[in-house]
Amino acid sequence: MAVIKSKLFVDRTNEIAKIDPRMWGSFTEHLGRSIYEGIYQPDHPTADKDGFRQDVINAVNQLNVPLIRYPGGNFVSAYNWEDGIGPKDQRPTRLDLAWSTIEPNQFGVHEFVKWCQNVNAEPDMAVNLGTRGIDAARNLVEYCNFPKGTYWSDLRRKNGAEEPFNIKVWSLGNEMDGDWQIGHKTASEYGRLAHETAKAMKIVDPSIELVASGSSLRTMPTFGSWEETILDHVYDDVDYLSLHQYYGNEANDLQGFLGKSVDFDGFINDVVAVCDAVKARKHSKKTINLSMDEWNVWYHSHAQDDAQAKWQHAPHLLEDHYNFEDALLVGSLAITLMKHADRVKIGCLAQLVNVIAPIMTETDGGVWFQSIFYPFMQVSQFGQGIALTPRQEVDTYHSADYDVPYTDSMMVYNPDTQEVVVFVENKASEAMDYEVHVDNMQLGQLVEATQFCGYDIKQTNENQEMKIQPLTNVKVDGNLVQSKLQPLSWNMIRVSVKND
Ligand code: AHR
Repeated sequence: MAVIKSKLFVDRTNEIAKIDPRMWGSFTEHLGRSIYEGIYQPDHPTADKDGFRQDVINAVNQLNVPLIRYPGGNFVSAYNWEDGIGPKDQRPTRLDLAWSTIEPNQFGVHEFVKWCQNVNAEPDMAVNLGTRGIDAARNLVEYCNFPKGTYWSDLRRKNGAEEPFNIKVWSLGNEMDGDWQIGHKTASEYGRLAHETAKAMKIVDPSIELVASGSSLRTMPTFGSWEETILDHVYDDVDYLSLHQYYGNEANDLQGFLGKSVDFDGFINDVVAVCDAVKARKHSKKTINLSMDEWNVWYHSHAQDDAQAKWQHAPHLLEDHYNFEDALLVGSLAITLMKHADRVKIGCLAQLVNVIAPIMTETDGGVWFQSIFYPFMQVSQFGQGIALTPRQEVDTYHSADYDVPYTDSMMVYNPDTQEVVVFVENKASEAMDYEVHVDNMQLGQLVEATQFCGYDIKQTNENQEMKIQPLTNVKVDGNLVQSKLQPLSWNMIRVSVKND
């Protein structure tokens, strides 16, 4: 077989957009061990006076997540936020209907906001539009964001937070298109409720930003019409429309699995098209942006979860152990998000700790990083700045559903650090000659080059063997960058820029 080659062409004057740092957010839900035994475990040796595990805080800080969505997820659709405030010994224990578990409410809005401060993230607070609605949502905004002198704001102060939390981003429900959702609604029912709820929330605090709940998956039968109908109701109220997407490799088809980035790209394009069609029909000047507020691989734990006994507290649910091919897909989905930096402003890798997560905890031990931790850590740290339009010259392969380019690649120019960063994934099972041709900017020196490769595609990382390694064969010659990429590899190349 001939050596595979891939070329990336970028031009400094051809920008997609500045990447919103919130693209690299994450999500934590009252689900399994995400909160309890994940971020909150008062009897853990590393717990601080608030019960927060310091080993988890340190791990999350390495991931550099600027925004965290909470408290669900499916959980939020039957949640009473008032259960999670006030003295902990007086908080009720409830049935959580979303996951058939026991919820002791020892962690609520105060704990979440304080924990976010420990990891330098802003909250994205979801409100319950399943069993509840306008009243609970507007009270929660008043509780969190109103300074003082009213029932809910003074209750917050009594509960220990003199200053308002000033939560900016709010999600209007979760996956209301899915019949698994408690309080599932038709698009018209949800659209009406979301509109009236948004109206009340914005009267309490006009500075907040709102996310409408879009489709749970691209394959939902209502996909497309759901977006169109709900946007008819909420177009003027909201700033973002959400998308959720998880992929699995049940068919054990590596090339098909890695090709899911093409599906992800098409999903984003479709949602942008619907948003803009509604914009045109409404003669609106406003553009709705996207919040990809759940994305990841999720399938390894399904059988184990089906066998779990009901009504436990903090059971091991959705504890996927990710392997190397999962890390490759997460890397290429991250590149896809950067290609849509003009419209995707918020992203949440779902989730953060223990539940389909990059970070795992041992109840009586420490933390360990999953394979997917590594590419995500690199994009969250270095996928910052201006995304430049990528033009690739590379062969494609045909997977079950798509023609898939053998590489996904992308260059970002960061004016703050005066460097460009190339992310490139080689999806071929053989080495590849790779070139980047840059126009209208002067490249300087190689700053750093790394690769993540060489593992069996089914290898997981419980023993913490996986590492980002140096990529040693990179040459920068004028405005040409050349390298040889290892088979099935995730790579990052940082090069300084002479001037702008
Ligand atoms: O992240 C796990 C679940 O996936 C969330 O609760 C739900 O929103 C989605 O279906």
